[in-house]
Amino acid sequence: MTFLWGASISSHQVEGGVENDWTRWERRNADEWAQPGLLGRARRALGQANPPSAAADPSNYISGQATDHFNRYEEDADLAAEMGLNALRFSLEWSRLQPTEGELDADAVAHYREKIRALRDRGIEPVVTVWHYAHPQWFVDDYGWHHSLAPAKFHDYARRVHDALGDLVTYWITMNEPSAYVRASYVFGGFPPAQTKLWQAPRAWRNLVRGHRRAFDALHTTDNLVGVSLAAGSFEPYTDNALNRKLAWLLRYVEHDGFLQALLPDLDFIGINYYVEYEVDVLGRNLLNGSKPRSDMGWPLSPSGLEALCTRLAAYDLPLLVTEHGLADSDDEHRGWYIRESIEAIERARAAGAPVNGYLHWSLTDNFEWDKGFWPRFGLAAVDYDDHTRTLRDSTSVYADIIDSRDWDATWQPSGNGATAQE
Ligand code: BGC
Repeated sequence: MTFLWGASISSHQVEGGVENDWTRWERRNADEWAQPGLLGRARRALGQANPPSAAADPSNYISGQATDHFNRYEEDADLAAEMGLNALRFSLEWSRLQPTEGELDADAVAHYREKIRALRDRGIEPVVTVWHYAHPQWFVDDYGWHHSLAPAKFHDYARRVHDALGDLVTYWITMNEPSAYVRASYVFGGFPPAQTKLWQAPRAWRNLVRGHRRAFDALHTTDNLVGVSLAAGSFEPYTDNALNRKLAWLLRYVEHDGFLQALLPDLDFIGINYYVEYEVDVLGRNLLNGSKPRSDMGWPLSPSGLEALCTRLAAYDLPLLVTEHGLADSDDEHRGWYIRESIEAIERARAAGAPVNGYLHWSLTDNFEWDKGFWPRFGLAAVDYDDHTRTLRDSTSVYADIIDSRDWDATWQPSGNGATAQE
């Protein structure tokens, strides 16, 4: 099998015209996000984020038509093909498929079948995420992930999705970044349902684990592969001593290892969403993460962290797929360099035995970046939000050259008995 070279998108961030818990959340918060209080301003300054003046406009925070991908999916499939990609990860919009509890909406099913065919016609493998952050209103109003019935509701959705689309899909991802979801929605309250009753957080965590397991049962067959996409930063000691090693272990555990270990053996592969490397220190040195170049959102750009992460995750003995990795970079200043160095980091990890089977860049096009709105520009292709035209950024040619010059193979045989990562 060949290595997956692709890009990633998610429904709420690109489709447009949806009505879900996030659209409600945007309407409620847009004014405040546009004029952040002292705390918000301090956070921006500390993170060295570089928001343009558009960030002060409430309309920046309303997803609305997003990139109009719902109507332009063929054009986006053409773009992916033009970039030389052979895979696209996208998510299904749960609120379209189940606008009310129960039956799937027939038009939504027809839409996703057409979209998958459009990708396949262009030689692009669909990697389908069942749920990426946004929910139908009924799910959050009547249940939410802290509710004991949430796993059963998710199972019902996944089972129906498999019945409707299973004949067209080989690579499934049950959910996106469950630990980041718990953190944002149940601890810090920045994402809906903004539950800051802390005892709900472990409940949500447990139900997400159960939800994944039940969705795995619904989706898994002998002909497909079912994984999860984890928020996976790299945590390594700033200076090597026992306390720093322990701290790095703990942070890895909370961010991805804990969840991962709870999901085994119900995983065919591990999806890695890598953005940031943290060199951690009990004394708090390096809190601002050194002098690395930064994305427009202030995130330090550190390709070497991807090598460390993949090498560590290889201990689980499961195929690895980088399901997200990218940066907000409106001037396309760092993107080409970052992609090249990061793929070289993957190359080193593969040489050391890490079974990395694909790289999906975040993102195919610019899109709606949740509570930051439209200003962060993550796309390989730029989107003009006035008329939704797309323009390839120069860095796409760097990515295309890399793809051309590497004939990597992939082994998707999971051993299925994942060992646990060591300190
Ligand atoms: C999420 C994406 C998001 C990206 C950049 C990931 O954690 O899965 O939805 O756009 O990070 O912030």
